[in-house]
Amino acid sequence: MNKIAVLTSGGDAPGMNAALRAIVRTGIELGYDMYGVRQGYLGLIWGNTLYYDKNYNFFEKENDTFYCIDYDRVRFHSHQLRRAVNLYNQEKQFYSYKNIFTTKRGFVCIHPEVLQKLSLKSNKYIRRLSHQDVDSIIGEGGTILGTSRCPEFKQKTFQKKAVKNLHNLKIDNIIIIGGEGSLSGALALSQYKTSEGHPLKVIGVPGSIDNDIGCTSVSIGTYTAVNTITTACNHITNTASAHKRVFIVDVMGRDCGYLALASFVAAGADFALFRESGTTLKQDIKRLIQKIKNDFSLSRRKQRFIIIKSENYGVESTNLRKQLEKAFENSPHRIGVRITNLGHVVRGAPATSFDRLLACRLGAAAVHSLYHNKSSVMAGWIGYGRYEASAADPGVGLWPLRQVILETKKSRMGKQKYVYHRIMAYFKLGTLLSH
Ligand code: ADP
Ligand code: F6P
Repeated sequence: MNKIAVLTSGGDAPGMNAALRAIVRTGIELGYDMYGVRQGYLGLIWGNTLYYDKNYNFFEKENDTFYCIDYDRVRFHSHQLRRAVNLYNQEKQFYSYKNIFTTKRGFVCIHPEVLQKLSLKSNKYIRRLSHQDVDSIIGEGGTILGTSRCPEFKQKTFQKKAVKNLHNLKIDNIIIIGGEGSLSGALALSQYKTSEGHPLKVIGVPGSIDNDIGCTSVSIGTYTAVNTITTACNHITNTASAHKRVFIVDVMGRDCGYLALASFVAAGADFALFRESGTTLKQDIKRLIQKIKNDFSLSRRKQRFIIIKSENYGVESTNLRKQLEKAFENSPHRIGVRITNLGHVVRGAPATSFDRLLACRLGAAAVHSLYHNKSSVMAGWIGYGRYEASAADPGVGLWPLRQVILETKKSRMGKQKYVYHRIMAYFKLGTLLSH
């Protein structure tokens, strides 16, 4: 029986669950056994090799031997050995030095007699998923599979460990839902082989609120996040207007200004600060002060001024607030400045219908791609330029993962034309509409 594993990785995004549901149900319909990997690449690295005792001490099973490990954070630090030895010393009833018969890779191995007394339980990261397992998750934010930031996965040693886990379960296909980093992981995985020596088949699905992924006009989660920011700005407008205040609204987006710019337009905000503008901080602040003066002037009589500031823009909001307050300290109107950092609120909402539809279509197309023997591609949403349309859905393009990563990197450096123009188009439109 052909098997597909699916995992969600990196920053969670509303709609990841809808994609998972579509993938699982399409896969079952096409005759696959479906598997879910918990906690992204971290779960792939551990696979089903992790066991725990009644005191929640963790052990890794390798070739029928158990190694005691520090599972505090399921990370791979060098102090593991010291922690493990301390553990043995503390719990003398089970562990004494005579029971430690070997060490390997810094882990301490357990004597079989001791092991029996521990009655270990398995902590599986890779499990079968049924049709029912994905019931009622279509609109839920976050990801029911869990996700992680797992820098270890960039190293070949851990990639090999992950591939070994797939071999153990005879899984030859994997779908990765995530952002730029996760898709780089997908590309890395596609270089490995299955247990039978064929290329491992890997498909990517773009899931990230940042909308910073190449070869797709939108990634799953983006417009739910824009919606959340817009709703927050509506609320802020009410209180800001009551006091005639300036609000700096901080929004996520990592290095990409898309969320800030799209919300600038959608929320009818007054100013946007984002990295890609090409202007200097000094120029931006000068222009900002001029616009506040103009909008609050007697001829314009605006009641509130909302600035949407993108993550990683060159000034801290507290510092910007000080500069603005200083600029208006002698103003007769007493212009107050407040800061709202929307933080992770932007990421956690239930998926909007657009993100659900997008996720369903991309998820289903990803499984169909595997079914039609495709690999190392990302299912993107009506991208730009020439692309291979999905056989299952003409709205979905299949893009080589290598090209996706390349385009994403170019966009980050401001060299990717359509991403740049898309952002600047919103900037021009938002500026025009807020006059
Ligand atoms: P996102 O996918 O949302 O961009 P990250 O950048 O944190 O989030 O990436 C998610 C995970 O993808 C990382 O924690 C790591 O496990 C994996 N990853 C990122 N970059 C690479 C890479 N170059 N090679 C292999 N795996 C990677
Ligand atoms: O990539 C999604 C994102 O929300 C970015 O906008 C933000 O920079 C980052 O993740 C925050 O990550 P974390 O949840 O790990 O703090």
